[in-house]
Amino acid sequence: MTSDKQFHCRKSEKGLSGKIRLPGDKSMSHRAVMFSSLAQGKSKITGLLEGEDVLATLGAFKAMGVKAVGPKNGRLTITGCGMHGLEAPEVDLDMGNSGTAMRLIAGILAAQKFPSKLVGDESLSGRPMRRITVPLTAMGAKCVTDEGGTPPIHIRAVTKLEPIDYKLPIASAQIKSCILMAGMYAQGETTVTEPAPTRDHTERMLGAYGYPCEVEKIDDAVSTIRIKGGGTLSACDVDIPADISSAAFFMVAASIVPGSKLVLQNVGVNPTRTGVIDVLRAMGADITLKNERVIGEAVNGEPVADIEVKYVGLKGAEIDPALVPLAIDEFPVICVAAACAQGETIITGAEELRHKESDRISAMVAGLQAVGVDVTEYRDGMTVRGGTISGGVVESFHDHRIAMSFAVAAGVSEETIVVNGVENVATSFPNFAELANKVGLNIDD
Ligand code: S3P
Repeated sequence: MTSDKQFHCRKSEKGLSGKIRLPGDKSMSHRAVMFSSLAQGKSKITGLLEGEDVLATLGAFKAMGVKAVGPKNGRLTITGCGMHGLEAPEVDLDMGNSGTAMRLIAGILAAQKFPSKLVGDESLSGRPMRRITVPLTAMGAKCVTDEGGTPPIHIRAVTKLEPIDYKLPIASAQIKSCILMAGMYAQGETTVTEPAPTRDHTERMLGAYGYPCEVEKIDDAVSTIRIKGGGTLSACDVDIPADISSAAFFMVAASIVPGSKLVLQNVGVNPTRTGVIDVLRAMGADITLKNERVIGEAVNGEPVADIEVKYVGLKGAEIDPALVPLAIDEFPVICVAAACAQGETIITGAEELRHKESDRISAMVAGLQAVGVDVTEYRDGMTVRGGTISGGVVESFHDHRIAMSFAVAAGVSEETIVVNGVENVATSFPNFAELANKVGLNIDD
């Protein structure tokens, strides 16, 4: 793999304080680049996350002839080529570390009249892709993974796709979005039924770009999303709020370091993403949403708020498995909150964590044990017994969220925590250490 860059992290002396604006939402940034590229006309995106994952998505569309100016300071202008205007890429499309980029773009490429090949880094090359190639194949796409069901994905040219009615076997926004992307090209109506709510940025953003997509609630958990093929996307201006998944590191840090009071400005608080707030509140956290607003048509009514977090001693909790898809990326740092809480925290129903940028269950268990935390691992979660955090050397397994989680844990550790392999923090949060130090954490990178 790449270099073995480290974080050397020490205790926060006075707690976290201040008001900060965090980088743009990763999920929305990917989708804004994809829809703008396929739209007719010029779209202006502000608040874009300039992380490596989103740049990989942008690079793929540029390799297929899309013209873009930026990104600079979160501003990116894309001149879309229309639904059928992509050109055959002359190179393999490298999605780097990003599962979202690979799975969503696969839905678009599966419908094109030219072949393509999607590749990724070592971590992405080990992640499961049959979850998308199986439904895409059922739609008539010609895509194959390697024998283990992992990348690269070879996609052959097709002239048409059939619609499907697909019941997601896993609550996954990436699979749902992949099928909706392909559904835009299918001859008829495609439906996707999700067993539990997952992030709905694709559905909301389709609306912003003028592409009809209906959501029918079957019951409290289950919804069916319907999309008809053959429509068009109209260019639009999108303003992306800060990423709640990045905010989560600061919510936990401010909750565990005594004396903290922090405001995180303009954070996306879409209810399909706020599971982390529910989990932390169940652990006694003092989190207040202020200045709640909807940023208009720009991102089709994505709700936004300023989040105020004050230190309070956390207590352990049994986490409702229904919250897992709504906080899926936040579990590494939730484990850190649990390690600092009084009593036991029990996480179950979270086996999907084993299929992220690393196996996040075993990565967190190993890291917590390396800094003296008492933790028991299960196939689908863990029990963390809160106590004190000692110093130690922790492997991030080149996973950005594992790396940032242990930098947060160091906020309350007596001795230094060294985190190995932190270069991938740049995939989702390039200025993490700088912003963290600005508000009172202590990270040498
Ligand atoms: C994402 C969906 C989630 C999440 C990922 C981003 C998205 O994955 O873990 O970081 O943008 O759709 P799954 O939906 O596969 O759980």
